[in-house]
Amino acid sequence: MKNEYIPYPVEITDVKRESFDVQTFKIKFKEPRMQNSFKYKQGQFAELSVLGAGEAPISITSSPSRKGFLEFTIRDTGGVVTRAVSNLKKGDIFHIRGPYGNSFPYEEVKGKNLYFITGGIGLAPLRSLINLVMDNRDDFGHVKILYGAKTPDELCFKEELELWKKIPDTEVWLTVDKPCNGWGCTVGVVTELWKETHINPANAVAFVCGPPIMIKFAMDKLLESGFKEDDLYTTLERYMKCGLGKCGHCNIGEKFICVDGPVFPYKELKKYPHYENVF
Ligand SMILES: Cc1cc2nc3c(=O)[nH]c(=O)nc-3n(C[C@H](O)[C@H](O)[C@H](O)COP(=O)(O)OP(=O)(O)OC[C@H]3O[C@@H](n4cnc5c(N)ncnc54)[C@H](O)[C@@H]3O)c2cc1C
Ligand code: FES
Repeated sequence: MKNEYIPYPVEITDVKRESFDVQTFKIKFKEPRMQNSFKYKQGQFAELSVLGAGEAPISITSSPSRKGFLEFTIRDTGGVVTRAVSNLKKGDIFHIRGPYGNSFPYEEVKGKNLYFITGGIGLAPLRSLINLVMDNRDDFGHVKILYGAKTPDELCFKEELELWKKIPDTEVWLTVDKPCNGWGCTVGVVTELWKETHINPANAVAFVCGPPIMIKFAMDKLLESGFKEDDLYTTLERYMKCGLGKCGHCNIGEKFICVDGPVFPYKELKKYPHYENVF
């Protein structure tokens, strides 16, 4: 019988530094058969482990449309697991089990205009969906990515931000709290971008991912701009252990974020008691 708690070894094939404390790890499974059997969807996560350190839930940031590898973007918080992974190099091994959780809607939003509102490392889970959309660009309307970080250095996926800008009918708007010399974009929190670009709710869906305070203010702005609650999606993070809906560590109300989330329609979140505190 398959033991769901047993993780599989993966080898790091590339490491990319995104900022002073964030790196993206490209990996392949040590067992080649796992490469095909590990099927995941945009927005899902894996339990990632380093032997002797522990396990942590980490979003799969690569797109399911790009085969033969997986990518994880990890912030070294000084926590046990993220610190241990951050010290690994190309050729080193860590372990993963999964994929877990639900996913961002994809088929359901075909034909719509898409807004991605994100901050800091919050772009990591959204990047999986963004690149899936980019790989099937004709299936969607206009795409706008609004992305904020504390400083220009802390913007992740800088090369991809440049690539996305060049894709027809796609806009990327950037803002930082503290600019450096030569910063040519907006200064301020991500909602400052509302002053720069027109936000049109017609036939549109918005995905919001980032620090809790950013999610709250971005949701308020989207609703003010005329978006319906049905058309807003976000992700929640909670301390997790099993990732399988068994240990009860990650509940909000009667839901477990590891199986019922991490992606939630805003409308559903509003049904939970004390929903204002979930961000
Ligand atoms: C669905 C989901 C997806 C996620 N995706 C990502 C992702 O893509 N990338 C990513 O980087 N993270 C992601 N996270 C967050 C990540 O799982 C957590 O940050 C996790 O706790 C990291 O594990 P850790 O062992 O490194 O840190 P932990 O040891 O759990 O520590 C977490 C935080 O607490 C602090 N801390 C720990 N011990 C102490 C102490 N004694 N006193 C004070 N502070 C302390 C640490 O400094 C750290 O900031 C995700 C979480 C979820 C739920
Ligand atoms: S992490 Fe165990 S129930 Fe969600």
